[in-house]
This record gives sequence, structure tokens and C-alpha cells, in this order.
Amino acid sequence: MRFGVGRVLVGLLIATSFFVITGCGGSGSSSSSSSSTSTAESGSPTEPAESSTAAMEAESPSTSWPSVGNDIGGTRYSTTSQVTTENVGELKPAYLEMLEPAGSTGSGSENNPLESEGVVYASSSSEDPVLGAYDAGTGKMLWQISAKELGIPKEEPNIGTRGVAIGDGLVYVEEPGGILVAVDQKTGKEAWKSVVNTQHVYAYSQPTPVYWNGLVYIGQSGSDIIGGLRGFVKAYDAKTGKLAWIFHTLPRPGTAGAKTWDSNSELKDGGGGVWTNPVIDPKLGLVYFPTGNPWPDIGGRGPGDEDYLDGVIALDLKSGKLKWFYQTTHHDEWDYDCAQPPLLWEHEINGEEVKGLSIGCKNGYVYELNRETGKPVTPVKEEPLSNSKSDPKAKALDEKMGWTKSNGEPLTEPIPVSNGEVTPHCASKNLLEPEAPDGKGFSYACAYMYYGTDHYTAGWNSASLDWQPSSYNPETGDTYYCSNVGVHGVKLKNFSAKETENAKVFPELEENGETAGEPRAGWLTALDLEDNGVAWQKKFPTGTECDAGSSTTAGGLLFMSDSTGKLRAFDAKSGKEVWSYQHKGLELRAPSIAYEDGGTEYVTVVGTLEGKAVLLGFALGAKEPSALAPKAEGVAIDAQQVFTTSCGTCHTLKAAGTNGTVGPNLDELKPTASTVERQVINGGGKMPAFKGQLSAGEIKAVSGYVAQSAGETTGNQKK
Ligand code: HEC
Repeated sequence: MRFGVGRVLVGLLIATSFFVITGCGGSGSSSSSSSSTSTAESGSPTEPAESSTAAMEAESPSTSWPSVGNDIGGTRYSTTSQVTTENVGELKPAYLEMLEPAGSTGSGSENNPLESEGVVYASSSSEDPVLGAYDAGTGKMLWQISAKELGIPKEEPNIGTRGVAIGDGLVYVEEPGGILVAVDQKTGKEAWKSVVNTQHVYAYSQPTPVYWNGLVYIGQSGSDIIGGLRGFVKAYDAKTGKLAWIFHTLPRPGTAGAKTWDSNSELKDGGGGVWTNPVIDPKLGLVYFPTGNPWPDIGGRGPGDEDYLDGVIALDLKSGKLKWFYQTTHHDEWDYDCAQPPLLWEHEINGEEVKGLSIGCKNGYVYELNRETGKPVTPVKEEPLSNSKSDPKAKALDEKMGWTKSNGEPLTEPIPVSNGEVTPHCASKNLLEPEAPDGKGFSYACAYMYYGTDHYTAGWNSASLDWQPSSYNPETGDTYYCSNVGVHGVKLKNFSAKETENAKVFPELEENGETAGEPRAGWLTALDLEDNGVAWQKKFPTGTECDAGSSTTAGGLLFMSDSTGKLRAFDAKSGKEVWSYQHKGLELRAPSIAYEDGGTEYVTVVGTLEGKAVLLGFALGAKEPSALAPKAEGVAIDAQQVFTTSCGTCHTLKAAGTNGTVGPNLDELKPTASTVERQVINGGGKMPAFKGQLSAGEIKAVSGYVAQSAGETTGNQKK
């Protein structure tokens, strides 16, 4: 039996698996015996857990992480305070576990794990994604089940899951093809399956479900460059998987919302995908979903504001009926959808206690709303499109295409008055040079511009404030946004096409239209709730993208991982970077979580290590898992095992205990890692080539291992 490193640290030997097997108590049940380091938590170890205890826990922030945003309000704030700005330097890797069975390659991608009652739940985002449960103190796998084992057909392309939900004794995940699956929380055995993606649209990602009070809430992604969707969100009965209600983000003809559209034909597949999870206020009885952009993305639609797209919808939890809708972009021609989940907070603003909601959208702006009414709590002003005066020709052309209000008047857009620039709102020479691809100069504009057809207009900063979840720390009163700065120039090819492929974009966007094809610079911004202005801001160099959102703790910390594979911690108050971790071959694209287990705080993230999906947990003063030890160059891969199986029959290597004689004795040869790598890839003489037999990661691992181990027992030089 393995013991959690954290327990060794506090001098206790409590097997987390006890709680897992018996399903007893909360993770804090061991606190009584580790009072010196643990934060108090109620619950007695002998009391059996209610099936929905974990989910109920999610009503407000806690020391576990039972819903995608910790609490169902999505603060991404943990009340854990063991790791602080002072001691975070001692934060070390504590466990590393594979999220997929040995031998498979995969990706951790954007997966947000959960923790409840001593168990971490996580999924991978591979071709055949795997859902699993892991001991919260050791990372040790308790069960795993793959999409294939669940009878889910392979889906191409499959971008992957973003997270899971738990409640009523079940774990919920959306699998490729848009199939929502519920499995038993203790065994991983299937309980039910339901098809969310009934329109069979091309979906980029499987949004994260959220469980609350007997229902599972989920939206449908899709509707972009590739094709349209009649957007919707759904609630399912958590026990049976039966559809409880559906709300269409694209209104039904004849309803109030439909009047904001030019024609009923646009309401068939005019967009409104939902890319991430909803958040919930159980007291108000409302669920809030962010809504996506119209389709076609640019052009091809008549005038109109186009409800309920590009904003937030507040729906009745039980009936799915619309309570309010706030639109952040009217008549979107820029791909300025709201992709990230909203954040719920309570804070005093202008002397009044406000039940607030913040939403950051791809227009680069953050809106603070009263979540009871949907009205802004910090000022927002309707403004004409940014270059309407400076570029009347482009304005006239684009208006011809339908870029107007329903009554033909020029478009206006809701711009927050604060100076909270979480991303630059305007393009300029120093953000996009040199000249436009047509040899002419760019015309520079801000967010929301008319394009025109005879030159490139720069200012398209879509995808800068994207799906990456934001966080809120009630102690600082700040919300935290992760954005990426990449400005684009756009020129329309013509202005009558009833299709989306009518824009020339520079620099070229990647195929899926979501990310800029050039490296972008990440910005991490703290916004002060009181005025929606910048409290502090970190700008990273180009190439260091803010890829995974953030999370924050009562220890005064803000965690963020970036595109270089670094997990960073900041002082949430000042923005000072106080810690970071990076490991060769480790990629991080998912937000981290923090929780307490057995009196120890863990900061845990899903990542990809040498082509394998992994769960990586950190704790104060932890002993590094051997798989991460610098000696094993190839990290997660068991290099010695690769050597014994693939090389040992022909080669002698004392460290591996092999004594083959077909090839040279490697202890005597003492090859460098690159020599071994070259030989293993290509083979030579009587030695077969291993390219295609072993993965690139395994080849790297075994090469490093041979180079380091050769001659080790004789104390010879290592290289
Ligand atoms: C079927 C037997 C066999 C297997 C399996 C085998 N080798 Fe070899 N290896 C040889 C032979 C034979 C040579 C000598 C090649 C030659 O004639 O140049 C050799 C050469 C080498 C060399 C020396 C290259 C040089 O440039 O001096 C290295 C290093 C090596 N092998 C590593 C490995 C590793 C690592 C593995 C496992 C991934 C492996 N070998 C698997 C037979 C084998």
C-alpha cells in the first residue's frame, strides 16, 4: 500500500483508501488526528455520506473541489489556506498518475479535474478518452473506463472533454459525439447514456456538465466556420438520464427573441453554441450559460441584434424558462462569442451589496451584471463601431451587407466604461506590423469595426479572451482573467456572399478559426470588482500564452498554467509571481484545482507528459514522484522497463540487470544519449530499428536511461 506523501509530512499514516473503500465521511474526517496542519472541517469519520453530500458541498466555495469551478457559482476559489504566499516555495510534486492504461498515448488537454471525499475524478482527451477516479492523497488509480468500453463510437475529429461533474453517486462526462454518460462514482460502471448532440453538428469540444439538485446541466458546442447549429442547452434527470428540459439559444420563430432576427430561415442553423459549463445560483433558482456567436461567422445574415447569442442567459433551474438575457455583442460579425463560464460573486459596490455575475467575452471586454436582473452594475455605454467615422467607405459597404440594427440604423455595441483592459481593445502599429499582405498599409481600428473590401482593417482580437475560465477571490475582491493578445487584419472578399468564407484574415488563422496562427502574448489581469478596473496586470512575452485560465485560494494565491508548460503561482493581491514549476516534456492546457485531503493541501492539474495524459498533484515539502525524478530523463515512462523488454536480450546493462551478448556491452561502451537515440531510431548492423515500435517518448526515455546508467555500478563517468 502506498501512503500519501502529505501524510508522511505531517507524521501520520492514514490510508486515504480507507475512506474511498468505505465511502465514509468527508475528506476532513481525518482532521481530528492532524489538528496541527489541517483546517477544521465538520463531519465525523463514522457517519456514512449521503449520496449527494459532495454535490451539496458545491453550494459555496470549500476545501474540496466538487464542481468544475469549485462551487457551482464557478468562483474557482478554494477556501484552503495551507499553502500561502510565504511557504509556496516548498510546493513540490507529490504524485503523478497516468490517466490512461499503460501503453496508450493520449492527452490531458483542457480537462478540469474534481475532488470530493478523498477522490479525484478526471478525464483525458484522447482518441479514446478515459474517465477515472484517483485517490486524492496518492493519485493512485481507483478505476478507469474508456469511451470505447462505454460503447462510444470513435468520432473524428474529437477535440475532447473539458471536465466532469458528480452528484447522486454518479460521475457525468460528455464523450465524443456529444454523448452524456453517467457512471457509478465508486466503480465506474455505466448507469446511463444520453445523446446531447441530437443535431449531430460538428462539435469542437465536449462542454463540462454541472450537477445540481437532481439535474445535470449542459450546453452544446459547435457552430463555427464549419457549419451551423440551432444552439441549445439542456437539463437531464441525474438518476435516469432523461431530458428534463431544453432551451434553444436560437429562438423559435414567432417568439420575442425571434424578432431580433432578420428572417426565420436564419433561425434554423444560425448558431449559438455553448462552449463551457453553466454556473448556478440555487437561492435565486437560476442557471447561467454563456452563449456563442452566430453562423455564418462573418456576413451572410440580415440586420438585427440576434438574441440570445453572444451573451449570458439566465434560466429557471427547474423549467429552463428564460429569466433574462444580456447581450455583449449585437449582430456579431467578429466571432466575439462568450465562451468562458460566468463568475458569480457577492460584493459591495457603491455602498450596496450586489449579487453579481461577471462575464468575459471574445470582444475582449468584461461585464459586471446584477445576476437577479441582468443589468450592468458598473457602467456600460452603447457606442458606434470603432471606425465608423474614420472609414465611411467600409461602413457603407458593410452596412449594405446587413450590419445594422433591424430598423436600418447604424450598429452600436455595449462597451464597459471602465479602463479594465484585460486585452488591448485597439490595434496599432506596434501590435501588428509590418504592412498588410496586399502591400498597402493597415487601417487600424479597435474592437468592433467595419471591414470593407479594399484594404485590411486591423483590430480583430477575437480569441483573446476565450474559453479559459476566470476566477474570483472574495478576499481580494478581484476577478482574474487570462487572455492572449493577437491582433488581426481582415478584408472582406466581397459583400454579397451568403456564406462564411468571405473574409481574408492576416495573419492566417488556424483551420478551426479559433486560435491565431501566430504565437500570442498572454496577459493575466486582476480586475477590481468595485469599478471593473485593473488591479494589477502581468504581460508575458510573445509565445507564452495564457492557455488554461486560473484558480485561486484562501492562501492568497492565484494559479495559472501557460503554453510553455509552466504552472505558476502569484500573490493574488499584488500579482507578484511567487512560485513556478516546469518539467521537461510536460504540457499544461488545463486549469488547476486545490483541495485538502487528510489535512494536506494539494494543487492538482491534468497535463500531458511525453505524450501521455497525467494527473499531477503538488503538496508542501512533498517528495518528488520517482517518475519525475531528473534521473529518468524520459520521466513518466518507465525507461528501465522499456530497456528490459526491448533491449536486454541483446545487451548487457548492470543497472537493468540484463546480460545479453548479441550487441555490445553498454556498461563498457558508455554511449551518450544521442548515440543511443540515433541507434535505437535507425537500428544498424544486426540491431533492428525501433522507430514505430517504440514511441518517441520511449525512445528518448530509454536513451537517457542507458546513457545515465551505463557504468553506474562501477562509478564511472555518466553522460
Ligand atoms: C536483436 C538484438 C538487439 C536488440 C533487441 C537491441 N540491440 Fe542494440 N545493438 C545490437 C547489435 C548487434 C549492435 C551492434 C550494431 C552494429 O553492428 O553496428 C547494437 C548496437 C547498439 C548500440 C551502439 C551504437 C553505437 O553507435 O555504438 C547501442 C547504444 C544500442 N545498440 C542500444 C540499444 C537499445 C537502447 C536497445 C533497445 C531499445 C537495443 N539496442 C536493442 C543488437 C540489439
